[in-house]
Amino acid sequence: MEDSAKPSPGIGAGAGNSLAVLAAAIALASAYGLSLGLRHLESKASHQQPTPETWFETPTPSSPALLSQGRALFLSSCAHCHGADATGDEGPDLHDVGVSDRYISNIITHGIKGEMPSFRKKLGHDEIARLTAYVRSLE
Ligand code: HEC
Repeated sequence: MEDSAKPSPGIGAGAGNSLAVLAAAIALASAYGLSLGLRHLESKASHQQPTPETWFETPTPSSPALLSQGRALFLSSCAHCHGADATGDEGPDLHDVGVSDRYISNIITHGIKGEMPSFRKKLGHDEIARLTAYVRSLE
């Protein structure tokens, strides 16, 4: 880019200048798009990035009874990978995951490709909510 090496022509330099401004705006817009794309990839890689819309979610209902049901479900569906006490085995430690409830229930529902199965067909909405409350309670 030979053009960008030249000193800026300054304000009021005419049509050439507004073209340069336009070019800069396009460059900025595409750089922004690229960084959004990269951030998306990063968040997929770590599983640790809560997305902004989850900041406004209502908390998953919880009570001692719901938690003990969640724990029973955990022992039958999750413990062989995450450990009976959820401190991790083949799957990671689930204490202090630092992600939102919606994020946890999404992972349970959809699984993680090649890592963790989807439970969409095995568990109902209520069961996933109880499991989410249980994982949340591990913090
Ligand atoms: C086949 C083994 C397996 C089973 C069964 C399994 N998981 Fe996982 N789970 C994994 C693995 C492996 C990961 C980590 C994947 C990664 O980070 O790439 C994971 C990740 C997670 C995460 C995300 C943790 C984080 O820090 O982002 C949550 C939450 C989770 N599992 C909950 C559950 C729950 C609840 C169940 C039971 C309904 C369950 N898992 C069943 C293997 C399993």
